Amino acid sequence: MALFRLPSNAPPALAPRGSGLVLRAPQMADFIQWSQLRESSRGFLTPWEPIWPSDDLTRSGFRRRLRRYAEDIADDKSYPFLIFREDTGALVGGITLANVRRGIVQAGTIGYWIGQPYARQGLMTAALRVLLPSLFGELHLHRVEAACIPTNVGSVRVLETAGFRREGLAKRYLCINGVWQDHYLYGLLHEYLQA
Ligand SMILES: CC(C)(COP(=O)(O)OP(=O)(O)OC[C@H]1O[C@@H](n2cnc3c(N)ncnc32)[C@H](O)[C@@H]1OP(=O)(O)O)[C@@H](O)C(=O)NCCC(=O)NCCS
Repeated sequence: MALFRLPSNAPPALAPRGSGLVLRAPQMADFIQWSQLRESSRGFLTPWEPIWPSDDLTRSGFRRRLRRYAEDIADDKSYPFLIFREDTGALVGGITLANVRRGIVQAGTIGYWIGQPYARQGLMTAALRVLLPSLFGELHLHRVEAACIPTNVGSVRVLETAGFRREGLAKRYLCINGVWQDHYLYGLLHEYLQA
């Protein structure tokens, strides 16, 4: 497990790698790749994501995003990762662990996306396989949660392949693409990975 330091006084961040992928926290130098991939994948991603702020793909919007990320990491609230191909350095997508709860809960929720040119190549399945052990290991989580719209068959498949178990259906759970939508709730315990 590699560790690297953010430029600030933030704690060491996770940078797991494996299966030809490297996952690490976003940096300002990622802006061009990130904004180009998100823009070229807009129609593919937006049906499954919260509405994008109007300045989302601008440099200042990205800087604001990074400031929020740095605060959230320092507060142990959320951990964003971008996914890169190790051989070319190409950005292919992202996974964010959010809503980290400590104390007697020790849980967090993942959200994820893959750029359209890289879809259906096994990359999100591989990226989760690389990341999940770190969430249970270095981040000491007991449980990782995810939610997905029932018609998002790719996402259902990714979660179930990664070992998540479906725990229920939450009605009008998240506002996705401007609409309160029902979501399957999934949970993953460390034991499921070891079974
Ligand atoms: C969902 C998403 C992350 C999947 O990423 P991916 O890298 O394409 O997934 P993988 O290539 O690892 O696919 C895993 C499995 O799902 C299947 N799959 C992926 N997308 C699919 C689709 N649109 N329709 C049917 N099956 C699909 C793959 O064929 C593969 O099946 P297999 O295990 O039988 O081989 C990606 O499609 C995406 O970013 N979608 C838009 C944003 C989104 O939905 N985010 C998640 C919100 S909950």
